[in-house]
Order: sequence, then structure tokens, then C-alpha cells
Amino acid sequence: MAELLSIILAAGEGTRMRSATPKVLHEVGGLPMVSHVLRAALAAGAGEMAVVIGPGHDDIRAAVARQAPSAMVFEQAERLGTAHAVRTAQAAYANASGNVVVLYGDTPLVTAQTVAAVTARLDDGADLVVVGFEPEDPTGYGRLLTAGELLLAVREHRDATEAERAVRLCNSGIMGFKAATLRAVIDRIGNDNAKGEYYLTDAVELANIDDLAVAFTVVDPREVIGADDRAKLALAESYFQERRRREHMAAGVTLHDPGSVYFSWDTEIAQDVVIEPNVVFRPGVRVGEGAVIHAFCHLEGAQVGPGATIGPFARLRPGAELEEGAKAGNFVEVKNARIGRGAKVNHLTYIGDADIGARANIGAGTITCNYDGVNKHRTVIGADSFIGSNSSLVAPVSVGEGAYVASGSVITRDVEPGALALARGRQENKPGYAGKLRARAEAVKRARAKE
Ligand code: UD1
Repeated sequence: MAELLSIILAAGEGTRMRSATPKVLHEVGGLPMVSHVLRAALAAGAGEMAVVIGPGHDDIRAAVARQAPSAMVFEQAERLGTAHAVRTAQAAYANASGNVVVLYGDTPLVTAQTVAAVTARLDDGADLVVVGFEPEDPTGYGRLLTAGELLLAVREHRDATEAERAVRLCNSGIMGFKAATLRAVIDRIGNDNAKGEYYLTDAVELANIDDLAVAFTVVDPREVIGADDRAKLALAESYFQERRRREHMAAGVTLHDPGSVYFSWDTEIAQDVVIEPNVVFRPGVRVGEGAVIHAFCHLEGAQVGPGATIGPFARLRPGAELEEGAKAGNFVEVKNARIGRGAKVNHLTYIGDADIGARANIGAGTITCNYDGVNKHRTVIGADSFIGSNSSLVAPVSVGEGAYVASGSVITRDVEPGALALARGRQENKPGYAGKLRARAEAVKRARAKE
């Protein structure tokens, strides 16, 4: 396979997004669109990547550096068209010897397979390959003018005749070139057209003039959706989710109601996990084999060990780590805390900045008071301990192994292993006192009625 350079165009202004955030930084599956494109290019074997951004977009530069530290970034000072954008990255392809694939930063669902298919066609002898698709409504897209297997030209909508506009096969924007072909045509592209822009699509006619081999492939329109406004972004998100749901099910995950489960780009779920309806995975979640996620859970930056159970209505925040067979039940919130093997936190509880030992039982309504208004502190609960319901553990504090905390306690001092801690008012029973109380209340009521 020849070396691959991918040029990603991301200098569009994105005005239709109506956003302070640049278009390509809007997220799909919790990851900026441009990062998805970089990942696809990398997975297809791109050894070099060049991203063309608008002037002053340091936030895009930073996102690119996070995803692909070795990617080159070029600033296109003036937005003069897709060919002009590619020319901006001239330093990247000037000495390239292999293939060049041009992708768009706002087309996040492009797959590595499609990029690889384009490069395979180039390796098989094509000099230029255009990826086409058939949208429901072709208005606005460039049309692929074909003759059998041959691609004669790509005609932009504004420049097309009525007959050409009737063509339904459109340009997705993904184009592959042999590096030598790109160099041979790119500087000959002019801007004598309806938009007065330098169209990269004009490369097709120029390559044909040079008698080069120009080919096209066709992909599912959902793969090449461009998200240039919020409605298209939502559509891209829904296609992304459909894809992920299919992939997880194919990998052995049970989804009771796939359409109500939302994954992130990096969600990792092992085989035989069961996920009930209405579950949201934000980035950074790993779920181990055989775990069960009951309905209405929200997870972010969390690890759920094999055979662990969460929910219904559990929230796992960043740093939550449930070990094998642990349980976090209904209305339980866990943040930056480890819940040891087989430990149970079953009801109405907040566990933050804590470490809970194996097999510990945390009673309903337990709260780790981890924040004093200024600093966060840790709570350490030993293995096999028992925390009675409605206890507050005021951190920093520890409860030793096998210790017992009485219900309703406010624990402010460490509890040694095996001890019983009682930290609540002592109970006093007054025989017959209930009747006296009632009589007093009724007297008050009568007095008020007279007033
Ligand atoms: C382009 C194609 C069209 C195709 C359509 C698919 C050309 C001339 N036309 O049209 O055939 O059907 O995409 O969506 O190529 N960009 C820059 N700098 C520029 C101009 C564009 O970086 O100066 C980037 C944009 O950020 C975007 C991409 O290139 O990611 C496409 O630009 P856009 O203006 O959306 O292209 P269209 O005119 O819609």
C-alpha cells in the first residue's frame, strides 16, 4: 500500500451553526467532528495528516493536536474555495509520493473503510477517485457526470444545466488523488464559475484532459452527511448512534430498547452486558462482561466491572470505579470513588472521593460529606464493614474493616476495625406521654377556635 496523506478541510466559517464554537468542534458522540475525521484517516493508515483551518482558530488547532499530535495545520487566510484550501496545504503534498485523500472536517461519519477503499482504487491504478452518494435531495451538491464506469466531470449545482441537475449522483467531497496527479492539476484550477471560487472538483475534468484514470465509488448517504447546521448535526448524531448500537449488539451486548441508549465515541462494552432502556454513556466509560445496567442511568468517565449492577436511576460520574460484582442501585451517585468487589450501595446515596472495600454494605441514604466548601476530602471504608442507613461520613474520615456504623450517625472521627460507631442522640422512651401530648394539642386547637 502506498503512503497516505490525508488533507482535512476545516476552514469553513460555519455561520449556519449560529455558534461561538467553530463548526468542526461541535461534537458527535461526545467527540469534535474534526477528531472523528482524523480518527478515520488514521485508522485507514494515513501516515501524514494536514488540516486546513480558518485564521485564528487556535481552538481547532488544539483539538487537532489532542487527537493527532503529528498532524500539520495550515491556515487559509481567505476562504476562496476547496481547491484553494487544498493548495494552502501545498507543503504537505509537495514531496509526497503516495496517495492523498481529501476529507471534510464537518463530515464526521466517514469510515476508515471508505478511505481505505479509495486508496485501494488508487493503488489499483486510478489516478483520481471521487466518492459519490445519492442524497434524497441533491440540491446544492456537485453532480457526478458519468459515462458507465467513467467519471467525466463534477458539476457544481450553481453551474449545472437543467439536464445536469437531474443527475442524482452527487459528490460527497471525499476525493482521492495520486500525489503526482494532485500536483499536476491543482494549480491549473481557476475560479471562472458561478461562485468565483476555486473548485477542487474541477480536478476531474483536468485529469481527464490529461488522459488520467478517473474513477468513482458510491457510499451510503448517511456516511457522508455534512453537519453545517444544528438540524444536520442532530441527524449526524442519530446516524452515529444507530451505527454504534448496531456495533455493540453485533459484539454481544443486549439492548432492550436500542433507540433509547446513547453511546459515546469511546464507550467500551464487553460481551453479555445487558442495557435496559434510557441509558446515556458520556465519554470515558468501560463496562465489563456480564454487567447489568438497569433503566435510566447516566455514566461518564466511569468503569463498571464484570458482573456489576447499576441502577435503575444511577449516576456514575468521572472516576467512579465499580469492581467485579459491585452494585450501585437506585438514586445512587458515585464520583471519583472505588467500590470494591461485591460491595453494595443500593439506595439513595452519594459516594464521592471515597474508597469502599470489598463486600461492604452501604445503607440507604448514606452520604460521604466530601466537600468543606473549599477542599475535597476522602472517605475510606474498609472491607466487610456495614454503614447503617442515613449516615453522614464527614471526610477526611475512615471506617476500618468489618466495622459497624449505626444508622443515622454523623461520623467525624475514624472508626477502628471491628468497632461499632454510634454517633447520634440516645433514644429515650417516656411511658404514657403520647396521650399527654395529644391532650395539649387539642387544647390549643379549642383555644384557637374560640378566638
Ligand atoms: C462541496 C463540493 C460539492 C459537494 C459538497 C458536498 C466543491 C467545489 N464543491 O460543495 O461538489 O457536493 O461539497 O458537501 O468542492 N472549505 C475550506 N475552505 C474553503 C472552502 C471550503 O476549508 O475555502 C471546506 C469547508 O469547511 C467544508 C468543505 O471545504 O468542510 C466543503 O466546503 P463547502 O463550502 O461546504 O462546499 P460546497 O460548496 O457545499
